[in-house]
Amino acid sequence: MQPPAAGTLRVLHLSDTHLTGDGTLHQGSVDTTAALEGVLARADGVPGVGLVVVSGDVSGDGSPESYAAVVERVGGWAGRHGAALVTVPGNHDLREGFRQVLANGHVLGEGGRPLMHTMEHHPPTVPVAGQSLVAGRRIVTVDTSVPGAGYGEIAEASLERLRAALAGDHAPHGTVVVLHHPPLPAPTALHDALRLRNPGALADVIRGSDVRVVLAGHYHHHFAGSLAGVPVLVAPGVANDTDVTGPYEEESAYVDAGALVVDLAEDGSVWSTPIRVPRPDADPLAFALDADTVTRVIEASTGR
Ligand SMILES: [Fe+2]
Repeated sequence: MQPPAAGTLRVLHLSDTHLTGDGTLHQGSVDTTAALEGVLARADGVPGVGLVVVSGDVSGDGSPESYAAVVERVGGWAGRHGAALVTVPGNHDLREGFRQVLANGHVLGEGGRPLMHTMEHHPPTVPVAGQSLVAGRRIVTVDTSVPGAGYGEIAEASLERLRAALAGDHAPHGTVVVLHHPPLPAPTALHDALRLRNPGALADVIRGSDVRVVLAGHYHHHFAGSLAGVPVLVAPGVANDTDVTGPYEEESAYVDAGALVVDLAEDGSVWSTPIRVPRPDADPLAFALDADTVTRVIEASTGR
């Protein structure tokens, strides 16, 4: 791949790694540790990465061991490549385990140097929040997870933090917002039930701001859209790839892994190159849920 142009921040955008502490297979079919290692090995061929992002569902079980595995593998990759590492919780993450290992999610700073965090205790009801500066860009993470639920919602406190961050010290080359649930339409009934419930509130905060791009995950498929004129990029899942062409009421996924390489130029231009890491050795179908099963999963994860 071509190296990034001078002054450009190149981001390796991963999402939905769903790592497990004990090696349990995701949906009973995918070894997510192996999938992640495959993506990272492929990403060795991407030059000039300055920031690695994991936009939620970092863990599949919320265990401290699963987060330690992320630090070891993704943090190790970022450290070797001199890149920062930023993560944010998704609906499968547990804030307690996340904070215990990843603190506020801003794990490595510019150049891959460990960031120091003061030990603060927060109950799991308090959203994880953080920001850091990488190559003149303000990286702000917004926790869209709702404890015990699969859908996403940005709490008023998190919106206020984002507002305050955007009103704070000038970031020379603008802001990158990282969150899990995309503020974009969902491809299936299941994902629609688990969508971000207040995208309009986010739109109101970022409209007219210096936010250059919103990086999200959750849909396990690559999508690109915009919110309040700001590009929104949804990374493909590391764990599997949602079948967006299947019947709307059903949910199935293929064994496939990928990531985005997102280049952020100094003038605010954004471009994204999806990379795909096929798993020819694997059974192609990761899982398939019929409409009745999807209805039961929706009820269990939304309280409906
Ligand atoms: Fe998710």
